[in-house]
Amino acid sequence: MPKEYLDVLVREVTQLTPRVREYLLVSTDGSPLPACEAGAHIELLIAPQAIGRTVRHYSLTGGTGSVDDSRMAYRIAVQREDRPRGSAFIHDTFAVGTQLAISPPKNEFRLDHRDGKSLLIAGGIGITPVFAMLRSLLRRKRNFEIAYTGRSRSEMAYVDAVERLAGDRAHIHCNDAAGGMLDLKALFAAQPANTKAYICGPAGLIEAARATAAALGWEPQRVRSELFTPPPTGHEVAFEVVLAQSGRTVQVGQHTSILDALKSAGMHPLFDCRRGECGLCPLPVLEADGPIAHRDRYLSDEEKASGSTLCICVSRLQGSRLVLDA
Ligand code: FES
Repeated sequence: MPKEYLDVLVREVTQLTPRVREYLLVSTDGSPLPACEAGAHIELLIAPQAIGRTVRHYSLTGGTGSVDDSRMAYRIAVQREDRPRGSAFIHDTFAVGTQLAISPPKNEFRLDHRDGKSLLIAGGIGITPVFAMLRSLLRRKRNFEIAYTGRSRSEMAYVDAVERLAGDRAHIHCNDAAGGMLDLKALFAAQPANTKAYICGPAGLIEAARATAAALGWEPQRVRSELFTPPPTGHEVAFEVVLAQSGRTVQVGQHTSILDALKSAGMHPLFDCRRGECGLCPLPVLEADGPIAHRDRYLSDEEKASGSTLCICVSRLQGSRLVLDA
């Protein structure tokens, strides 16, 4: 097991909604876990034979009671997706006592407690880092509002706790209710100039919120976001990657990223976010016998259209052979 992973076990499992389960993780030897801040996530390493070695990212919703006591335990909430991938494997097999490997917390969605006001916006399971932020702001008695939107109340994890904790500063919005979609324009327009927005949810919500804020004159740095669900993946196929410089060939399974396949083969590609956002992992493409499915948010439209590079953390080949200049 690589040293960068921590050994933990599942201490509790709680069904939050029909599709979302919360897992309380503690270290296997009872020692404290690395401290984490609101907005942080962990990488969870899972290796079911059926789908191969896979890394999934889960935001930490907090520890045993508050975010600050997270040294003794981490909580993650996992939504079961329709596809037979990591989340279904987790729901089907993780139970009290299951031993796991996780990375130390990483935080690319950091809450700035110096903000005059924080506007938290969560869509669906994107509530997980936002829930940690909410409790962090409450504990520090900071000024905030939270908008939480989902398909229906019964599918919205932590919705009762959000209402209880935030009171009239919470705007709960169910898309199945009479009000239609969340009114982002009204929400952003009502904010004072010292507000910073933190958005986590599907790409559509993030893009709509960013566009709304920009149209109202918000500077881009006042809007931070974390994409929770990856873009639609379409039909995925296994393929081989040839690394032209080293001459090595690596098989990329149907449910494995190029990055994970290279790492599993003992290589050390550069990466950080694993979500197609940071721009550390793109590699030059020399040949591809099929279209490249670009799923990152880092490369420009022109770069994607040229097919000359791809983010190996999220993008794939819809073909059988990809040659990279690496
Ligand atoms: S690791 Fe960040 S874009 Fe791929």
